[in-house]
Amino acid sequence: MLTVFRHCRIATCDPQARVFDRGAVLLRHGIVEWVGPEDELPAGLHADRTIELAGRWLTPGLVDCHTHLVFAGQRAAEFARRTAGTSYADIAREGGGILGTVRATRAASEDELVAQGQPRLQSLLAEGVTTVEIKSGYGLELDAEARMLRAARRLATEHPVTVSTSLLAAHAVPPEFAGRPDEYVDTVCRQWLPALAAHADAVDAYCEDIAFSAAQCDRLFGAARALGLPVRLHAEQLSNVGGSQVAARHGALSCDHLEYATDADAAALARSGTVAVMLPVAFFVLAEKQLPPIEALRRHGVPLAVASDCNPGSAPGASLLLAMHMARRLFGLSSDEVLLGVTRHAARALGLGGRRGSIAAGQAADFAAWSVDSLDEIGYWAGFNPCSMVVKDGSIVLERDV
Ligand code: NIG
Ligand code: FE
Repeated sequence: MLTVFRHCRIATCDPQARVFDRGAVLLRHGIVEWVGPEDELPAGLHADRTIELAGRWLTPGLVDCHTHLVFAGQRAAEFARRTAGTSYADIAREGGGILGTVRATRAASEDELVAQGQPRLQSLLAEGVTTVEIKSGYGLELDAEARMLRAARRLATEHPVTVSTSLLAAHAVPPEFAGRPDEYVDTVCRQWLPALAAHADAVDAYCEDIAFSAAQCDRLFGAARALGLPVRLHAEQLSNVGGSQVAARHGALSCDHLEYATDADAAALARSGTVAVMLPVAFFVLAEKQLPPIEALRRHGVPLAVASDCNPGSAPGASLLLAMHMARRLFGLSSDEVLLGVTRHAARALGLGGRRGSIAAGQAADFAAWSVDSLDEIGYWAGFNPCSMVVKDGSIVLERDV
C-alpha cells in the first residue's frame, strides 16, 4: 500500500539537513520511499492513501534516548527534603534516593511495573515520541532487573513505540552488597550479564563518587562487550571521576549528563564517535550550577542529543518537550541542535542511526506533525504540546486537536 503525506513543511533531520517548504513523503509498508518537494512527486502517481497536512510541520518521530520510566512509587518526600536544602548525594549516602525506589520496585510485580510505566510512556507518545530507551536499575537483584527489562519490552508490544532497553544493574550498590561494590560488579559481570543479555540492547552504569568508580565501570564494560553488548554511561554528573574516558575507550554509544566533563573528555568522545546526551531536566531539578562543556563538545564535533531522563529522583516527569525547552534555555543549544538532539543524534545514541531518527528513503516511517508556524517553536513552548499527529511505522497512531 502506497501512502502519500502532502502539503507539509518537512524537516528531514537527515545528514544533509534538508528542509522542504512545501514537501511530500511517500511510504510503503512502514518505510519511507521518497521525500522531497511536492511539485517533484512523480506525475500520475497513484497513492492508495493521501494524508493532507494543510501546511503543518513534519519531523521525524522523536527519540527519547535516556529514560528510567519503568519504576514503582515516587519520591515526593525526598524532593521536599531536597528543596529544603539536603543534597541528592547526602540522601543517597543515607540509603535513600535510588535505593528508595529499589525497595518499591522490588515489591512490584511485572504487571504493576507495566501499569505504572504506562501513563509516563503515554505522556511521551503524545509529544511525538516514537522511540524510547528504558533502563533497569531499580531492581539490583537478578530477578527484579529481569522483571524491569521484561516490563519495558512489554510496553513496546502494547503501545506504538520502539523500546530500546539498557541493563543498569550498576546504578547503586544494593543493600546485599553494602560496602562490597567490587564483589557486586564481579557478580554482575559473571552471572547477571550472561543471564540478562537477551533482555537488554545495551549496558549502562552510573559512574560517580556516590555510585561506581571508573575502574569498576571499565570492568563491567569489558564484560558487556565480550558478550557483544554495546555500552553507554552516566558520567560526570556531580563530579569528574573519569567516566567519559572509560566510555570513550569502550566506544560507548553515548555518554550522558557530562556537567563536569573537561575539554579532554570532549576530545575523547569525539574520537570514539560517542554521542553526548544532555539531560537538562536533571540539571534543573537538582539545582546544579555546573554547565556541561557545550562549547568544547561543539568544537570537537561531538554529536549532541537531548533526553527527558524521566525518573522518580532527579527528573520526575515525562516530557521530552520540556527537556528540549530546557536544553535551549539552560544550556544554550539552538533550536536546530535540539531538534537533531531528539531525532538523528538520539537514534544514533541507541545504535539506530540509519533506521530511525530522520525522514529519508529506507528509514522507518516514524513522524510527528506539529501545529506550529516555525521550527523554532519546537522546544519553545514549556508546558504546552503542539504535536497534532504521530505516525509509527507508517500508521497514524495519534491525532490531537491543537
Ligand atoms: O539519570 N544519575 C543516576 N540516575 C538517574 C537518577 C536516578 C534516581 O535518582 O532515581 C539520572 O539522573
Ligand atoms: Fe539517568
